[in-house]
Amino acid sequence: MRILVLHGPNLNLLGRREPHIYGKETLADVNSKLEALHANIDKADGAIINPAGITHYGVPLHDAIAAMPFPVIEVHLSNIAAREEWRHRSMISPVVDGTIQGLGWRSYTTALRAVVEIAREKKKR
Ligand code: DQA
Repeated sequence: MRILVLHGPNLNLLGRREPHIYGKETLADVNSKLEALHANIDKADGAIINPAGITHYGVPLHDAIAAMPFPVIEVHLSNIAAREEWRHRSMISPVVDGTIQGLGWRSYTTALRAVVEIAREKKKR
């Protein structure tokens, strides 16, 4: 199993940071939910990433993701389309396979399931 899980800046404060927006779970809680899922999934290669604030201005991250050879899913806890206008633009969205947002910690578990399925399909081709 090789799924990279990448966390952007300030996500270490999950649970304490604006819990009405990001939920009460800590980053450790989110990671442990993902590890439990990992245990049930066959080998796959891909990544899920929540770039946090870098999402909206991250040209170097855009370029880095464009160079990745495996499927990548963008994740957001909150629904960035329903927040301030400057959050509506993601520099990352054009170079990922898809985006899951607005489901709280479930955005991560949903993204993990999706990236594993996409990676499996790509291997079959
Ligand atoms: C976030 C949304 C971003 O706009 C914000 O800067 C974050 C978290 C989310 O998970 O909802 O830090 O990526």
